[in-house]
Amino acid sequence: GHLKASSPDYEVQQKHHNDALKPLQNNSDDNGAPGLSSRRPVLHEGLAQKLSAGKNEQGRHKGVVNEQKKAALLKLRKELPIWNHERLIRQSLSGNKDIMLMVGETGSGKSTQVPQFLMTEPWCKRCIAITQPRRVAAISLARRVADEMGMTLGAPACQVGYSVRFDTSIGPNTRIKFLTEGMLLQEMLRDPTLPQYSAVIVDEVHERSVNVDLILGFLRNLVSSKRAAMKVVVMSATADVEGLTKFFQDGLREKTISNGTDRKATKVHSQGTSSSSTGSAKAHHTKDYTVDAFSDRISTCLIKGRQFDVKTTYVHEPTQDFVEEALKTIFRIHCKEPLPGDILVFLTGQETVESLQRLVNEYAGGLDEKTPKILTLPLFAALPQIAQQRVFDKAPHFTRKVILATNIAETSITVPGIRYVIDCGKVKMKHFRNNLGLESLLVKPISMSSAIQRQGRAGREAPGQCFRLYTERSFQELQKVTTPEILRCDLSQALLTIMARGVPVQDIITFPFLDRPSDESLKQALTQLLQLGALNESAHFSHTGKQLARLPLSPTLGRVILEAAKPERDCLSEIIDIIACLSVENIFLNIHTEEKKEAAEEARRSLFRREGDHLTLLATIRAYSEEQSDRRAWSDRHFVSHRAMQNVIDIRKQLRAQCVQMKLLDRNATEGSRMDEDTKAAMLQCLLRGFATNTARLMPDGSYKTMVGNQVVAIHPTSVLFGRKVEAIVFSEFVFTNRSYARGVSAVQLSWVGDVLAGAT
Ligand code: CDP
Repeated sequence: GHLKASSPDYEVQQKHHNDALKPLQNNSDDNGAPGLSSRRPVLHEGLAQKLSAGKNEQGRHKGVVNEQKKAALLKLRKELPIWNHERLIRQSLSGNKDIMLMVGETGSGKSTQVPQFLMTEPWCKRCIAITQPRRVAAISLARRVADEMGMTLGAPACQVGYSVRFDTSIGPNTRIKFLTEGMLLQEMLRDPTLPQYSAVIVDEVHERSVNVDLILGFLRNLVSSKRAAMKVVVMSATADVEGLTKFFQDGLREKTISNGTDRKATKVHSQGTSSSSTGSAKAHHTKDYTVDAFSDRISTCLIKGRQFDVKTTYVHEPTQDFVEEALKTIFRIHCKEPLPGDILVFLTGQETVESLQRLVNEYAGGLDEKTPKILTLPLFAALPQIAQQRVFDKAPHFTRKVILATNIAETSITVPGIRYVIDCGKVKMKHFRNNLGLESLLVKPISMSSAIQRQGRAGREAPGQCFRLYTERSFQELQKVTTPEILRCDLSQALLTIMARGVPVQDIITFPFLDRPSDESLKQALTQLLQLGALNESAHFSHTGKQLARLPLSPTLGRVILEAAKPERDCLSEIIDIIACLSVENIFLNIHTEEKKEAAEEARRSLFRREGDHLTLLATIRAYSEEQSDRRAWSDRHFVSHRAMQNVIDIRKQLRAQCVQMKLLDRNATEGSRMDEDTKAAMLQCLLRGFATNTARLMPDGSYKTMVGNQVVAIHPTSVLFGRKVEAIVFSEFVFTNRSYARGVSAVQLSWVGDVLAGAT
């Protein structure tokens, strides 16, 4: 019950200032779609105090409960492997030691304990920031740490808070702040030296998101130039310590040489040059002094986790359909193994999670009285906050929890009670295809290190079992570690992030990347930014660039918004609706059987627009919004996901607020409802402005070829334009399975495409 919301009297939400609500960069599947912010009502602090004063009795009771909880949790905390290292951790950052690299298995207590250890250190006068790749982790960790400290998250006195896109709980006394990586980057837009923090802890570094790589680069510059009196802790479940140590040492060395401020280093450096004039000898000495001068600034800490044995089994033959295989495995475990022992299934995305959930629920209905019940719980990033939190609740009596998750549960979130893991062996991740200049989400085999992480989730509390839905041979053939996202994604957003924080375009080349992307992909991203207008003709970062960096969207979608705000386009409300729909995975339910397919087609016909998928989305959100009586029933009737639509409505609200704040949208603007010919044409042209490179034209043979790159691309079967021949298309998503597909497609005039590609706007 530590995740239960506490009494509303204490739920005071304080906004630091308006900027605290600034959005994140939307650049990853998981961090991407802003989930529902289950925001509590914002109370004025004075009002809140009056309210709670009136309920003193209740307040005291609450205090007692908090103290009891704290005492109970302290026992558990002390059993965490990290507690053996408490003194060492404090010492590692005392005096002029300011960088610590920590490696410890998931669940060893890094995220929850390290900030608590550090907050009482004499150097720690300001806040500690601790970054997370995912919203759900940031919020649940904040809750947990508040409980451990005997405080109520959200109360004015609480020393723990969180800040994720569109949802912030920060008070006057916040000392430990969990925030998403994007949020920290956003704070750097205000002041790149982050003066509000005594320490920044970068957690989950092994995930190597683009944002984490950017943060590490910025922090390396900050600590090595000593521009900020700040300590940096880098934490990881599996990272390569040597690589990280070298990364930070290189930074310190570069700065010392260029500034000549560090006496020790300068001395050794000059020794190097005097003892020998050859380059190699100099390099040798440089290396020596690194050890001397920097070993006292960087320390490393290795924590051995507590891990029980996990018995692992494989399938004998490769499976065609892992959803079906998972279904069988779940029921095999459920009928054979006694309670307690929950099951965690790793799947690829919202779609597979939801279809397996439906199947399990269907079959579970047929279980006899003597068999325990099954409670299925989905867990993916776009899931509303409240639903995500449910996975932490204890299973009801005589019930087994079956958690159906994406790789969000791999290291980011520790769900208690898991004894069985089922691993489909796949993950959905971003891939950029340089030759096409298009990025797409691909389902790929996981890396060996991911497989081991997933397996480990079964042995956190007791011996467990892991069922791999792939053969032992496939396991042996897996890539050792996952390729960092920065080496496989479109870099335009990353470069936008870097430039918006004051790095001039010519210095991009010297930005400290932990893994440097290829020149070709850097160049391609710069071209894209130029095309979007984020750079002007003289290659300077433009006003448009600054605006794009503030929008919580990819630069392409951001550009669509900016275009729609122009008076001559005048369709921002409508475009926001479309973009809100594009920000969730799929608002239309997947249909599996033939007869249902027909029924769905019939039911959705009223929503379809001949111009294509984007206007169909607009028609859908409009019909949904207009439905006053029962939106769930409306959704069911139209084979639309009610959950996705709730998300869409929430994202729409957030995007509108952001646009109002940026003075793009009038505060009183009505919701998008126009569908006249002019508005339709304007919308399509706005989409084109952002997606100019995602365009294709019809060939005489009936196929479509991309305008840039001249590659064949087919309209995806889920598109309303599937099977139709139009002179040109613009698409918001590129999917690559056995062939290249355009998904999210609209018909446009060929001349418009020509115009936008020629740079006319
Ligand atoms: O960061 P690391 O994975 O090393 O561990 P952690 O997140 O600090 O978690 C340590 C322990 O705290 C977990 O094993 C859970 O028992 C508990 N915890 C929890 O109950 N709820 C959370 N939201 C986070 C942690």
